[in-house]
Amino acid sequence: MLFLTSVFTSIAALLVQRAQADCQLVGGNYYCSETTAVAYENIGYSGSYSDVTNMDESSCKCSQESVSFSGSMSPLDEELSVHFRGPIKLSQFAVYYPASGSSSTKKAKRDEGESCETVQHVHHMHKRAAAVTYVETTATVYADGSNAEAASTNAATSSTKAAPSSSSSSSSSSSSSSAAAGDWVRTSYYKPGSATNVTFLNTLGGTAGSGTWSTCFGNSLSYCASDGSSAAGSAEILDDVTLESNTEFMVMSSSECGDSSASGDCGYYRSDIPAFHGFGGADKIFFFEFQMPSDSSASGTNPDMPAIWLLNAKIPRTLQYGDSSCSCWSTGCGELDLFEILSQGSDKLISHLHDGQGNNGNAQGGGGSQDYFARPVDDTMSAVAVFSGSTIMIAQLDNSTTLGSTISESTVSSWLSQSASDATIA
Ligand SMILES: *[C@@H]1O[C@H](CO)[C@@H](O)[C@H](O)[C@H]1NC(C)=O
Ligand SMILES: *[C@@H]1O[C@H](CO)[C@@H](O)[C@H](O)[C@H]1NC(C)=O
Repeated sequence: MLFLTSVFTSIAALLVQRAQADCQLVGGNYYCSETTAVAYENIGYSGSYSDVTNMDESSCKCSQESVSFSGSMSPLDEELSVHFRGPIKLSQFAVYYPASGSSSTKKAKRDEGESCETVQHVHHMHKRAAAVTYVETTATVYADGSNAEAASTNAATSSTKAAPSSSSSSSSSSSSSSAAAGDWVRTSYYKPGSATNVTFLNTLGGTAGSGTWSTCFGNSLSYCASDGSSAAGSAEILDDVTLESNTEFMVMSSSECGDSSASGDCGYYRSDIPAFHGFGGADKIFFFEFQMPSDSSASGTNPDMPAIWLLNAKIPRTLQYGDSSCSCWSTGCGELDLFEILSQGSDKLISHLHDGQGNNGNAQGGGGSQDYFARPVDDTMSAVAVFSGSTIMIAQLDNSTTLGSTISESTVSSWLSQSASDATIA
Protein backbone atom coordinates (compact mmCIF):
# COMPACT_ATOMS: atom_id res chain seq x y z
CA MET A 1 0.00 0.00 0.00
CA LEU A 2 1.18 3.47 -0.76
CA PHE A 3 0.87 6.21 1.73
CA LEU A 4 2.48 9.58 1.90
CA THR A 5 5.92 8.56 2.96
CA SER A 6 6.18 10.97 5.81
CA VAL A 7 2.89 9.95 7.26
CA PHE A 8 3.76 6.33 6.94
CA THR A 9 7.13 6.87 8.51
CA SER A 10 5.75 8.58 11.53
CA ILE A 11 3.07 5.98 12.01
CA ALA A 12 5.69 3.31 11.82
CA ALA A 13 7.85 5.15 14.30
CA LEU A 14 4.94 5.54 16.65
CA LEU A 15 4.13 1.89 16.40
CA VAL A 16 7.68 0.94 17.17
CA GLN A 17 7.70 3.22 20.19
CA ARG A 18 4.41 1.87 21.32
CA ALA A 19 5.60 -1.63 20.81
CA GLN A 20 8.70 -1.08 22.84
CA ALA A 21 6.70 0.55 25.57
CA ASP A 22 3.84 -1.86 25.70
CA CYS A 23 5.26 -5.23 24.83
CA GLN A 24 7.15 -7.39 27.23
CA LEU A 25 9.53 -10.20 26.51
CA VAL A 26 8.81 -13.01 28.95
CA GLY A 27 10.50 -16.34 28.67
CA GLY A 28 11.31 -15.87 25.00
CA ASN A 29 7.86 -14.68 23.96
CA TYR A 30 6.53 -11.19 23.37
CA TYR A 31 3.30 -10.22 25.03
CA CYS A 32 1.70 -6.92 24.06
CA SER A 33 -1.82 -5.86 25.00
CA GLU A 34 -4.64 -7.82 26.51
CA THR A 35 -7.32 -8.47 23.91
CA THR A 36 -10.73 -10.07 23.59
CA ALA A 37 -10.43 -10.88 19.87
CA VAL A 38 -7.71 -11.95 17.44
CA ALA A 39 -8.34 -11.81 13.69
CA TYR A 40 -6.51 -13.73 10.96
CA GLU A 41 -7.12 -12.35 7.47
CA ASN A 42 -6.39 -13.74 4.01
CA ILE A 43 -5.94 -17.26 5.25
CA GLY A 44 -5.49 -19.83 2.52
CA TYR A 45 -2.95 -20.21 -0.28
CA SER A 46 -1.86 -22.58 -3.00
CA GLY A 47 0.67 -25.04 -1.71
CA SER A 48 1.46 -28.58 -0.75
CA TYR A 49 2.38 -30.76 2.17
CA SER A 50 3.63 -34.32 2.57
CA ASP A 51 0.85 -36.68 3.43
CA VAL A 52 1.53 -40.00 5.11
CA THR A 53 0.57 -42.90 2.87
CA ASN A 54 1.84 -45.84 4.91
CA MET A 55 3.29 -46.72 8.31
CA ASP A 56 5.39 -49.87 8.04
CA GLU A 57 5.53 -51.92 11.22
CA SER A 58 8.50 -53.98 10.09
CA SER A 59 10.85 -51.19 9.04
CA CYS A 60 9.34 -48.59 11.39
CA LYS A 61 9.34 -46.20 8.42
CA CYS A 62 6.56 -44.01 7.11
CA SER A 63 5.98 -43.21 3.45
CA GLN A 64 4.80 -39.80 2.33
CA GLU A 65 3.44 -38.27 -0.84
CA SER A 66 3.04 -34.63 -1.72
CA VAL A 67 -0.54 -33.36 -1.89
CA SER A 68 -1.53 -29.97 -3.27
CA PHE A 69 -4.23 -27.68 -2.03
CA SER A 70 -5.50 -24.21 -2.76
CA GLY A 71 -8.30 -21.82 -1.96
CA SER A 72 -9.68 -19.82 0.92
CA MET A 73 -8.72 -21.11 4.35
CA SER A 74 -6.53 -23.90 2.94
CA PRO A 75 -5.27 -26.08 4.42
CA LEU A 76 -7.42 -25.32 7.47
CA ASP A 77 -10.49 -26.06 5.39
CA GLU A 78 -9.48 -29.70 5.74
CA GLU A 79 -10.78 -31.70 8.68
CA LEU A 80 -9.52 -30.45 12.03
CA SER A 81 -9.30 -32.18 15.39
CA VAL A 82 -9.70 -30.16 18.60
CA HIS A 83 -7.12 -30.61 21.37
CA PHE A 84 -7.13 -29.77 25.06
CA ARG A 85 -4.29 -29.80 27.59
CA GLY A 86 -4.67 -29.43 31.35
CA PRO A 87 -5.05 -27.84 33.72
CA ILE A 88 -8.42 -27.36 32.11
CA LYS A 89 -12.10 -27.92 32.70
CA LEU A 90 -14.27 -28.05 29.63
CA SER A 91 -17.82 -26.91 30.35
CA GLN A 92 -19.15 -26.73 26.78
CA PHE A 93 -17.96 -27.44 23.27
CA ALA A 94 -19.92 -27.03 20.04
CA VAL A 95 -19.43 -26.91 16.29
CA TYR A 96 -21.67 -24.95 13.92
CA TYR A 97 -21.93 -24.91 10.13
CA PRO A 98 -23.80 -22.59 7.78
CA ALA A 99 -27.39 -23.73 7.33
CA SER A 100 -27.59 -25.57 4.07
CA GLY A 101 -27.88 -23.35 1.10
CA SER A 102 -26.67 -20.25 2.85
CA SER A 103 -23.56 -18.41 1.95
CA SER A 104 -22.00 -17.31 5.11
CA THR A 105 -19.06 -15.23 4.17
CA LYS A 106 -19.12 -11.73 5.48
CA LYS A 107 -16.25 -9.39 5.15
CA ALA A 108 -14.85 -8.27 8.38
CA LYS A 109 -13.77 -4.73 9.09
CA ARG A 110 -11.92 -3.82 12.12
CA ASP A 111 -9.74 -1.26 13.65
CA GLU A 112 -6.14 -1.16 12.80
CA GLY A 113 -3.29 -0.14 14.97
CA GLU A 114 -4.35 -2.21 17.91
CA SER A 115 -1.76 -4.86 17.59
CA CYS A 116 1.95 -4.90 17.97
CA GLU A 117 2.64 -5.73 14.39
CA THR A 118 6.04 -4.24 14.37
CA VAL A 119 7.27 -6.38 17.16
CA GLN A 120 9.47 -9.24 16.31
CA HIS A 121 7.59 -12.46 16.24
CA VAL A 122 8.93 -15.23 18.24
CA HIS A 123 7.51 -18.44 17.06
CA HIS A 124 7.16 -20.99 19.63
CA MET A 125 7.99 -24.54 19.27
CA HIS A 126 5.11 -26.60 18.51
CA LYS A 127 3.49 -28.06 21.49
CA ARG A 128 3.19 -31.23 19.63
CA ALA A 129 6.83 -31.33 19.36
CA ALA A 130 7.11 -34.76 19.49
CA ALA A 131 7.21 -37.05 22.22
CA VAL A 132 7.05 -40.68 21.53
CA THR A 133 5.10 -42.40 24.14
CA TYR A 134 5.66 -45.94 25.07
CA VAL A 135 3.58 -47.80 27.46
CA GLU A 136 4.70 -47.14 31.00
CA THR A 137 7.29 -44.75 29.82
CA THR A 138 7.29 -41.05 29.88
CA ALA A 139 7.66 -39.15 26.72
CA THR A 140 10.86 -38.97 24.83
CA VAL A 141 11.29 -35.44 23.76
CA TYR A 142 12.46 -34.67 20.31
CA ALA A 143 13.43 -31.35 19.01
CA ASP A 144 11.33 -31.24 15.94
CA GLY A 145 13.41 -28.74 14.13
CA SER A 146 11.30 -25.75 14.84
CA ASN A 147 12.65 -22.62 16.32
CA ALA A 148 15.32 -23.71 18.56
CA GLU A 149 15.75 -20.25 20.00
CA ALA A 150 12.44 -20.42 21.66
CA ALA A 151 12.98 -23.82 22.98
CA SER A 152 13.60 -22.89 26.50
CA THR A 153 10.18 -21.60 26.93
CA ASN A 154 7.88 -23.33 24.80
CA ALA A 155 9.71 -26.20 24.50
CA ALA A 156 7.53 -28.39 23.85
CA THR A 157 7.15 -31.33 25.00
CA SER A 158 4.34 -32.82 25.24
CA SER A 159 2.83 -34.61 27.64
CA THR A 160 1.77 -37.87 27.26
CA LYS A 161 -0.76 -38.70 29.53
CA ALA A 162 -3.78 -37.97 28.12
CA ALA A 163 -7.12 -37.95 27.88
CA PRO A 164 -10.56 -38.00 28.37
CA SER A 165 -13.06 -39.64 26.58
CA SER A 166 -16.16 -39.29 25.22
CA SER A 167 -18.56 -40.51 23.23
CA SER A 168 -20.87 -40.04 20.84
CA SER A 169 -24.35 -40.43 20.40
CA SER A 170 -25.64 -40.88 17.03
CA SER A 171 -28.34 -38.44 17.47
CA SER A 172 -28.12 -35.68 15.10
CA SER A 173 -28.84 -32.14 15.20
CA SER A 174 -31.21 -31.96 12.45
CA SER A 175 -32.72 -28.89 13.88
CA SER A 176 -31.97 -27.00 10.77
CA SER A 177 -35.60 -26.87 9.91
CA SER A 178 -35.87 -23.81 12.11
CA ALA A 179 -32.76 -22.16 10.72
CA ALA A 180 -33.11 -19.30 8.30
CA ALA A 181 -30.81 -18.86 5.33
CA GLY A 182 -27.61 -17.33 6.65
CA ASP A 183 -27.98 -18.87 10.08
CA TRP A 184 -25.49 -21.35 11.44
CA VAL A 185 -26.60 -24.71 12.76
CA ARG A 186 -25.06 -26.75 15.57
CA THR A 187 -23.91 -30.20 14.45
CA SER A 188 -21.80 -31.24 17.46
CA TYR A 189 -22.31 -30.43 21.12
CA TYR A 190 -20.85 -31.45 24.47
CA LYS A 191 -21.58 -30.51 28.02
CA PRO A 192 -20.47 -32.67 30.94
CA GLY A 193 -22.24 -36.00 30.73
CA SER A 194 -23.87 -35.47 27.36
CA ALA A 195 -22.51 -35.40 23.84
CA THR A 196 -23.86 -35.29 20.32
CA ASN A 197 -21.61 -36.01 17.36
CA VAL A 198 -18.51 -35.70 19.52
CA THR A 199 -15.93 -38.42 20.22
CA PHE A 200 -13.32 -38.02 22.95
CA LEU A 201 -9.96 -39.59 22.18
CA ASN A 202 -6.48 -39.68 23.63
CA THR A 203 -3.17 -41.26 22.80
CA LEU A 204 -3.07 -44.30 25.06
CA GLY A 205 -3.78 -46.87 22.37
CA GLY A 206 -3.26 -50.48 23.35
CA THR A 207 -3.76 -49.93 27.08
CA ALA A 208 -7.48 -50.33 27.62
CA GLY A 209 -9.06 -52.18 24.75
CA SER A 210 -8.94 -49.53 22.03
CA GLY A 211 -6.22 -48.58 19.64
CA THR A 212 -2.87 -50.28 19.45
CA TRP A 213 0.74 -50.09 20.55
CA SER A 214 3.86 -51.10 18.65
CA THR A 215 7.58 -50.78 19.18
CA CYS A 216 7.78 -48.76 15.98
CA PHE A 217 5.16 -46.15 16.60
CA GLY A 218 4.20 -46.41 20.27
CA ASN A 219 0.65 -45.78 21.40
CA SER A 220 -1.98 -44.97 18.82
CA LEU A 221 -5.20 -43.09 19.36
CA SER A 222 -7.57 -44.59 21.89
CA TYR A 223 -10.98 -43.78 23.25
CA CYS A 224 -10.66 -41.48 26.21
CA ALA A 225 -12.41 -42.54 29.40
CA SER A 226 -14.94 -40.30 31.13
CA ASP A 227 -12.31 -39.29 33.71
CA GLY A 228 -10.45 -37.44 30.97
CA SER A 229 -7.13 -39.07 31.71
CA SER A 230 -7.30 -42.79 31.09
CA ALA A 231 -8.26 -44.82 28.06
CA ALA A 232 -11.43 -46.80 27.45
CA GLY A 233 -12.47 -49.72 25.29
CA SER A 234 -15.30 -47.82 23.65
CA ALA A 235 -16.50 -44.25 23.36
CA GLU A 236 -17.32 -42.49 26.63
CA ILE A 237 -18.60 -39.02 27.43
CA LEU A 238 -16.32 -36.75 29.41
CA ASP A 239 -17.55 -36.13 32.93
CA ASP A 240 -17.47 -32.82 34.76
CA VAL A 241 -13.74 -33.10 35.41
CA THR A 242 -10.76 -30.83 35.74
CA LEU A 243 -7.75 -32.24 33.95
CA GLU A 244 -4.35 -31.94 35.53
CA SER A 245 -1.29 -30.49 33.87
CA ASN A 246 0.28 -32.69 31.21
CA THR A 247 -3.00 -34.39 30.49
CA GLU A 248 -4.40 -34.13 26.98
CA PHE A 249 -7.45 -35.24 25.10
CA MET A 250 -8.94 -34.44 21.74
CA VAL A 251 -12.34 -34.22 20.13
CA MET A 252 -13.40 -35.51 16.73
CA SER A 253 -16.90 -36.02 15.37
CA SER A 254 -18.71 -39.33 15.79
CA SER A 255 -18.70 -39.94 12.07
CA GLU A 256 -16.43 -42.94 11.53
CA CYS A 257 -13.78 -43.08 8.84
CA GLY A 258 -14.05 -45.67 6.10
CA ASP A 259 -11.06 -47.78 5.18
CA SER A 260 -7.56 -46.70 6.11
CA SER A 261 -6.14 -46.43 2.59
CA ALA A 262 -4.83 -43.16 1.22
CA SER A 263 -7.79 -43.05 -1.10
CA GLY A 264 -10.29 -43.52 1.74
CA ASP A 265 -12.57 -40.77 3.02
CA CYS A 266 -10.15 -39.85 5.82
CA GLY A 267 -6.98 -40.43 3.83
CA TYR A 268 -4.44 -42.91 5.20
CA TYR A 269 -4.59 -43.60 8.91
CA ARG A 270 -2.82 -46.00 11.24
CA SER A 271 -4.43 -49.44 11.37
CA ASP A 272 -6.50 -50.55 14.34
CA ILE A 273 -7.31 -47.13 15.72
CA PRO A 274 -10.65 -45.57 16.58
CA ALA A 275 -10.75 -43.44 13.43
CA PHE A 276 -13.25 -40.58 13.16
CA HIS A 277 -13.75 -37.61 10.92
CA GLY A 278 -12.65 -34.22 12.19
CA PHE A 279 -14.44 -30.98 11.41
CA GLY A 280 -13.95 -30.00 7.77
CA GLY A 281 -14.96 -27.11 5.56
CA ALA A 282 -13.79 -23.53 5.07
CA ASP A 283 -16.77 -22.18 7.02
CA LYS A 284 -17.25 -23.49 10.53
CA ILE A 285 -17.52 -22.19 14.08
CA PHE A 286 -16.08 -23.76 17.20
CA PHE A 287 -17.56 -22.70 20.53
CA PHE A 288 -15.88 -23.29 23.89
CA GLU A 289 -16.65 -22.65 27.51
CA PHE A 290 -13.65 -23.53 29.65
CA GLN A 291 -11.68 -22.75 32.75
CA MET A 292 -7.91 -23.03 33.13
CA PRO A 293 -7.36 -23.17 36.88
CA SER A 294 -3.85 -22.75 38.19
CA ASP A 295 -1.85 -25.84 39.07
CA SER A 296 1.12 -24.35 40.83
CA SER A 297 2.48 -27.61 42.12
CA ALA A 298 2.70 -29.11 38.65
CA SER A 299 5.86 -30.57 37.21
CA GLY A 300 6.59 -32.55 34.08
CA THR A 301 6.86 -31.42 30.53
CA ASN A 302 4.12 -28.80 30.32
CA PRO A 303 3.52 -27.81 33.92
CA ASP A 304 0.62 -25.44 34.46
CA MET A 305 0.52 -24.79 30.71
CA PRO A 306 -3.05 -25.32 29.54
CA ALA A 307 -3.96 -25.01 25.87
CA ILE A 308 -6.71 -25.44 23.32
CA TRP A 309 -5.58 -25.98 19.76
CA LEU A 310 -6.64 -27.37 16.38
CA LEU A 311 -4.69 -29.78 14.22
CA ASN A 312 -5.21 -31.13 10.75
CA ALA A 313 -7.06 -34.29 11.83
CA LYS A 314 -4.71 -36.44 9.76
CA ILE A 315 -1.97 -35.73 12.31
CA PRO A 316 -3.46 -37.61 15.29
CA ARG A 317 -4.78 -40.34 13.02
CA THR A 318 -1.22 -41.19 12.00
CA LEU A 319 1.22 -40.05 14.71
CA GLN A 320 0.76 -36.94 16.80
CA TYR A 321 3.91 -37.38 18.86
CA GLY A 322 6.93 -39.01 17.27
CA ASP A 323 8.85 -39.36 14.02
CA SER A 324 8.05 -36.27 11.97
CA SER A 325 7.85 -38.27 8.74
CA CYS A 326 4.86 -40.11 10.24
CA SER A 327 2.60 -37.08 10.18
CA CYS A 328 1.98 -34.20 7.84
CA TRP A 329 2.58 -31.62 10.61
CA SER A 330 6.16 -30.60 9.90
CA THR A 331 5.36 -30.01 6.24
CA GLY A 332 2.62 -27.56 7.07
CA CYS A 333 -0.72 -29.36 6.93
CA GLY A 334 -1.84 -27.13 9.73
CA GLU A 335 -2.15 -26.27 13.39
CA LEU A 336 -3.98 -23.31 14.86
CA ASP A 337 -3.33 -22.56 18.50
CA LEU A 338 -6.45 -20.87 19.80
CA PHE A 339 -5.60 -20.34 23.45
CA GLU A 340 -2.17 -21.41 24.60
CA ILE A 341 -0.16 -20.74 27.74
CA LEU A 342 3.49 -20.61 26.66
CA SER A 343 5.32 -20.74 29.95
CA GLN A 344 4.65 -22.28 33.32
CA GLY A 345 2.06 -20.43 35.35
CA SER A 346 1.52 -17.67 32.79
CA ASP A 347 -1.88 -15.98 32.76
CA LYS A 348 -1.65 -14.93 29.08
CA LEU A 349 -3.19 -17.01 26.30
CA ILE A 350 -1.60 -16.66 22.87
CA SER A 351 -2.89 -17.67 19.43
CA HIS A 352 -0.62 -18.79 16.60
CA LEU A 353 -1.02 -20.40 13.18
CA HIS A 354 1.55 -23.01 12.18
CA ASP A 355 1.31 -23.93 8.53
CA GLY A 356 3.07 -23.27 5.26
CA GLN A 357 1.49 -19.92 4.43
CA GLY A 358 4.48 -17.78 3.51
CA ASN A 359 6.78 -20.79 3.78
CA ASN A 360 5.23 -23.55 1.72
CA GLY A 361 5.95 -27.10 2.74
CA ASN A 362 6.99 -26.09 6.23
CA ALA A 363 5.17 -25.70 9.54
CA GLN A 364 7.19 -22.52 10.20
CA GLY A 365 5.01 -20.34 8.00
CA GLY A 366 1.84 -18.82 9.36
CA GLY A 367 2.03 -16.30 12.17
CA GLY A 368 -0.03 -14.94 15.01
CA SER A 369 -0.64 -12.14 17.42
CA GLN A 370 1.39 -11.08 20.41
CA ASP A 371 -1.74 -9.71 22.03
CA TYR A 372 -3.17 -12.14 24.54
CA PHE A 373 -6.41 -13.25 26.11
CA ALA A 374 -6.60 -13.30 29.90
CA ARG A 375 -6.43 -16.85 31.19
CA PRO A 376 -9.72 -17.76 32.92
CA VAL A 377 -8.26 -19.04 36.18
CA ASP A 378 -11.20 -18.55 38.55
CA ASP A 379 -14.23 -18.57 36.25
CA THR A 380 -15.09 -20.04 32.91
CA MET A 381 -14.54 -18.14 29.69
CA SER A 382 -16.74 -18.49 26.62
CA ALA A 383 -15.23 -18.02 23.19
CA VAL A 384 -15.71 -18.77 19.52
CA ALA A 385 -13.34 -19.44 16.66
CA VAL A 386 -15.21 -18.39 13.51
CA PHE A 387 -13.87 -19.63 10.15
CA SER A 388 -15.54 -17.68 7.37
CA GLY A 389 -14.23 -17.27 3.85
CA SER A 390 -10.57 -16.44 4.40
CA THR A 391 -11.03 -14.90 7.86
CA ILE A 392 -10.61 -16.55 11.22
CA MET A 393 -11.90 -14.58 14.20
CA ILE A 394 -11.10 -15.89 17.65
CA ALA A 395 -13.30 -13.98 20.05
CA GLN A 396 -14.09 -14.01 23.72
CA LEU A 397 -17.82 -13.77 24.41
CA ASP A 398 -19.54 -12.08 27.30
CA ASN A 399 -20.03 -14.36 30.28
CA SER A 400 -23.73 -14.19 29.77
CA THR A 401 -23.73 -15.34 26.16
CA THR A 402 -25.86 -18.38 25.57
CA LEU A 403 -25.66 -20.17 22.26
CA GLY A 404 -28.48 -22.42 21.21
CA SER A 405 -28.85 -24.87 18.38
CA THR A 406 -28.66 -22.08 15.81
CA ILE A 407 -26.73 -18.80 15.64
CA SER A 408 -28.16 -15.98 13.59
CA GLU A 409 -26.34 -14.48 10.66
CA SER A 410 -26.36 -11.10 12.40
CA THR A 411 -24.67 -12.49 15.51
CA VAL A 412 -21.92 -14.06 13.42
CA SER A 413 -21.54 -10.82 11.46
CA SER A 414 -21.13 -8.86 14.67
CA TRP A 415 -18.41 -11.24 15.83
CA LEU A 416 -16.60 -10.93 12.50
CA SER A 417 -16.83 -7.16 12.37
CA GLN A 418 -15.65 -6.37 15.87
CA SER A 419 -12.43 -4.62 16.65
CA ALA A 420 -9.66 -7.17 17.02
CA SER A 421 -5.94 -7.64 17.34
CA ASP A 422 -4.66 -8.48 13.88
CA ALA A 423 -2.55 -11.56 13.49
CA THR A 424 0.51 -11.05 11.30
CA ILE A 425 1.03 -13.77 8.75
CA ALA A 426 4.40 -14.51 7.20
C1 LIG B 1 -21.06 -34.80 12.65
O1 LIG B 1 -19.96 -33.94 12.42
C2 LIG B 1 -19.32 -34.14 11.19
C3 LIG B 1 -18.11 -33.22 11.15
O2 LIG B 1 -18.46 -31.90 11.26
C4 LIG B 1 -20.28 -33.87 10.05
O3 LIG B 1 -19.65 -34.10 8.83
C5 LIG B 1 -21.49 -34.75 10.22
O4 LIG B 1 -22.45 -34.40 9.23
C6 LIG B 1 -22.11 -34.57 11.58
N1 LIG B 1 -23.18 -35.50 11.76
C7 LIG B 1 -24.40 -35.12 12.08
C8 LIG B 1 -25.39 -36.21 12.23
O5 LIG B 1 -24.70 -33.93 12.24
C1 LIG C 1 -16.90 -12.91 33.74
O1 LIG C 1 -17.26 -12.89 35.10
C2 LIG C 1 -16.20 -12.70 36.00
C3 LIG C 1 -16.72 -12.72 37.41
O2 LIG C 1 -17.64 -13.75 37.59
C4 LIG C 1 -15.47 -11.40 35.73
O3 LIG C 1 -14.36 -11.28 36.57
C5 LIG C 1 -15.04 -11.36 34.30
O4 LIG C 1 -14.49 -10.12 34.00
C6 LIG C 1 -16.22 -11.63 33.38
N1 LIG C 1 -15.73 -11.69 32.03
C7 LIG C 1 -16.38 -11.12 31.02
C8 LIG C 1 -15.76 -11.27 29.67
O5 LIG C 1 -17.42 -10.51 31.16
